Amino acid sequence: MACFTRKVERPLELRTFYAGVSVGVGGLLVIVTFLGLFLYRRKKRNRLSPVLLSRRASSEPISSKKDPELGNEHYGTQVFEYEELHEATDGFNASNEVGDGGFGTVYKGKLRDGRTVAIKRLYENNFRRVEQFMTEVHILSSLRHHNLVSLYGCTSRHSRELLLVFEFVPNGTVADHLHGPRACEEGLPWPVRMSIAIETAQALSYLHAVTPPIVHRDVKTNNILLDRSFRVKVADFGLSRLFPLNVTHVSTVPQGTPGYVDPEYHQCYQLTDKSDVYSFGVVLVELIASKPAVDITRHRHEINLAKMAVNKIQNEELDQLVDPRLWRQSNSEVIWMIRQVAEVAFGCLQEERDMRPTMKEVLEALRGIEGKGSNRKKGAEADDAVAKDDDRSLLGERPPHSPDTVNAEWESRLTTPNASV
Ligand SMILES: *[C@@H]1O[C@H](CO)[C@@H](O)[C@H](O)[C@H]1NC(C)=O
Ligand SMILES: *[C@@H]1O[C@H](CO)[C@@H](O)[C@H](O)[C@H]1NC(C)=O
Ligand SMILES: *[C@@H]1O[C@H](CO)[C@@H](O)[C@H](O)[C@H]1NC(C)=O
Repeated sequence: MACFTRKVERPLELRTFYAGVSVGVGGLLVIVTFLGLFLYRRKKRNRLSPVLLSRRASSEPISSKKDPELGNEHYGTQVFEYEELHEATDGFNASNEVGDGGFGTVYKGKLRDGRTVAIKRLYENNFRRVEQFMTEVHILSSLRHHNLVSLYGCTSRHSRELLLVFEFVPNGTVADHLHGPRACEEGLPWPVRMSIAIETAQALSYLHAVTPPIVHRDVKTNNILLDRSFRVKVADFGLSRLFPLNVTHVSTVPQGTPGYVDPEYHQCYQLTDKSDVYSFGVVLVELIASKPAVDITRHRHEINLAKMAVNKIQNEELDQLVDPRLWRQSNSEVIWMIRQVAEVAFGCLQEERDMRPTMKEVLEALRGIEGKGSNRKKGAEADDAVAKDDDRSLLGERPPHSPDTVNAEWESRLTTPNASV
């Protein structure tokens, strides 16, 4: 795609450049001759323009000529025409709405080149610093990780609305599958929850490791999307960078989402990578408990899932926190993994930032748990007998399924094509 856009853009840029030079020099020197040349070039350009326009419609990189203060590094970020996006979403028809929140409404749309995309229509349209906006969009669109939703580009600064164009991820959010409209009766099996946790941690460690580091600022199960094969695609990262915080004044716009916000934010009004770690801890608890982060119908002390989890883990009442369907489905290896993941979540949910692990440490811990968990599964029966004993108090009964049968069922379901998209 980059090659294609470059090929289209270069001749046009040169032509405009020459046209500019022609005007300047022509004005000073042999006006008539150069004006003639200029007109000739303009005529030639007009003749070509229908072709250029139609091709530029779907792929026009931000040009350094148009925005002199922006350098060539802006190649690669696509600029979309407002009209194309308007058309792609059937005029932002409500029937194409796929999400709402986090700076804008999201529409599903089909581009002229056939790609299905998610188009975010930002709430705030008066960007005082469009330059900065473009720079940020470029940074975000240069990020490539298989567990991050790709940002393809945005509309031009001259467009009547600023729209962001993302890769479309078809199978809903983790929240939908845990406790929302896509939740199925038997719940997500443990191996799927475990890989959601690991892949989300991969995406966040990647964001924290780029230079300059990117703090997601709004990690929650609603921002963790799932593709056809249940791979994680983290969405909405770094979008708050598009709305630069006023450094001398505390933003009146609340940061993050209730139930996920770093408690230290309320003291220092700043979100750091450790704030993402806290929010990720809440995600881990949701994966264990299948409960939303905030639920006002729960008991007063349990409205906030993070608080509830910390209490239960501290009082060794994990069985009261874990989704009962998971307990029932699981054997000793899985119970062991759930306990370990709860420990990781407990670390992430520390009130003090310095006490929390880094995202990299969290990722390593989760990978270790998954690795050891499957070794235990393969491993000795003797080991199992011991583990079974100390799980019995929590578990009561041994579950009817082995993890293998759960896996097999799940895999067959994943490979069955689904027409609902
Ligand atoms: C939106 O889409 C629906 C269903 O496709 C259609 O019936 C309706 O007329 C559309 N509304 C507008 C304003 O185009
Ligand atoms: C989406 O998830 C459901 C499980 O809730 C699954 O049955 C379905 O096949 C998935 N759809 C796609 C397109 O993968
Ligand atoms: C920050 O916000 C205050 C009040 O809204 C405003 O007066 C000030 O000019 C802003 N500063 C910057 C750098 O935008």
